[in-house]
Amino acid sequence: MAQYDVIVIGAGPGGYVAAIRCAQLGLKTACVEGRDTLGGTCLNVGCIPSKALLHASHQLHEAEHNFAAMGLKGKAPSVDWKQMLSYKDDVIGQNTKGIEFLFKKNKIDWLKGWGSIPEAGKVKVGDDIHEAKNIIIASGSEAASVPGAEVEIDERIVVTSTGALDLPKIPKKMIVIGAGVIGLEMGSVYARLGTEVEVIEYLDAITPGMDAEVQRSLQKLLAKQGLKFTLGAAVSKVETGRNKAAVTYTLRKDDTEHTAEADVVLVATGRKPFVDGLGLDALGIEMTKRGQIATDAQWRTNLPGIYAIGDVIEGPMLAHKAEDEGMACAEVIAGKHGHVNYGVIPGVIYTWPEVASVGATEQQLKEEGRSYKAGKFSFMGNARAKAVFAGEGFVKLLVDKETDRVLGCHIIGPSAGDLIHEICVAMEFGASAEDVALTCHAHPTFSEAVREAALACGDGAIHA
Ligand code: NAI
Repeated sequence: MAQYDVIVIGAGPGGYVAAIRCAQLGLKTACVEGRDTLGGTCLNVGCIPSKALLHASHQLHEAEHNFAAMGLKGKAPSVDWKQMLSYKDDVIGQNTKGIEFLFKKNKIDWLKGWGSIPEAGKVKVGDDIHEAKNIIIASGSEAASVPGAEVEIDERIVVTSTGALDLPKIPKKMIVIGAGVIGLEMGSVYARLGTEVEVIEYLDAITPGMDAEVQRSLQKLLAKQGLKFTLGAAVSKVETGRNKAAVTYTLRKDDTEHTAEADVVLVATGRKPFVDGLGLDALGIEMTKRGQIATDAQWRTNLPGIYAIGDVIEGPMLAHKAEDEGMACAEVIAGKHGHVNYGVIPGVIYTWPEVASVGATEQQLKEEGRSYKAGKFSFMGNARAKAVFAGEGFVKLLVDKETDRVLGCHIIGPSAGDLIHEICVAMEFGASAEDVALTCHAHPTFSEAVREAALACGDGAIHA
């Protein structure tokens, strides 16, 4: 039995990053992981495999819709689904092995198995008990079922994102319950591959919490790509037959009940913290009302020496939020000043076009009664975007009316997920729209649209 300075439970983006930073800071570190590979949900059954399938299906979409216009003639490629899945698995393998290499490089012990905490200072993995001065719980999240509905997930016909990434064949019809990030990303993949996709959403808009203009724009663009939306619909039941499932929902506007059938039903109605088997109850770890581990601003639980980060605690369930917490928590344990700026955490949806946002939405600023200016620029005025059939969408920059300080940014358009980081950096530096507007941006790049939105906050965009 080894003695460690830190044992991290969970090797997802929160846990493995925490472990690497702990080791870099000179702490003797181990990381417990029960999956066969490192990387957690993100690398194995989440962010990374979905991006592989989004990339592959986007290539098909380009071939079917835009190649001919560029003089690339001939039949669009047909889909070899098995090969597409094996490409996806290869991408997973490269990334999970990469983390294994980083563990070795940083001399982090991988304790294989599912961990529990019998008492503060001890972590049990299988029959072994390991001692640690500090424990970081980074056990992530799991798919939540449809609230208040009778649904049995079999990962065959009624699936979560995990099953949706590994379907034996491309379904003819798929019903997606929930128009959040997972529903729209996976719905996009299958719509591009020829599946009839219907998205059933409880609220009257897609992507809750996003800027309302972006929501409307994204819905319109996805509808053009073939996704059908049924909004304001509460799902009450999913009944599974031999090769099909029937989804019953009530339209909230007139209280009428409807049923729709599909070969596959994807349940994408959120995720919940995964704390099974950790023994938190017996330990007396304080939880929030929403089943998350309660922590202070430096990720300490109520028990000395036990910390928690990522999806198991409050805040957006995002890999990069968990990573930031992992690094900062390691620094706190090492006696440094770890800090996460929760006001500057970008959110990205990897549809086509991409959607990205950071900071306040217009709705939030209105609710706060804050006086603000909005500078908006359409990708139609961006030469590079037009050259690659990506003129739809816009950048909207929100700034304080008096000080011109950047308060938020909402982008729907090509490479939005990369463009947003210019504004993240600007916000971290307390920049004004003028600072962004006066920064030279290379031509022709998509990033010029961000600068134009900043110019629109002042004397006006040039290409509008
Ligand atoms: P979500 O919270 O983004 O969306 C769930 C949707 O389901 C909401 O729009 C909600 O109104 C709807 N809903 C809830 N109950 C319903 C019902 N009875 N009938 C119809 N609709 C209902 O959750 P999602 O998409 O499952 O994602 C889970 C987590 O994973 C999120 O926190 C998300 O941020 C994260 N994630 C992030 C990604 C990214 O950053 N690109 C990719 C995938 C997941």
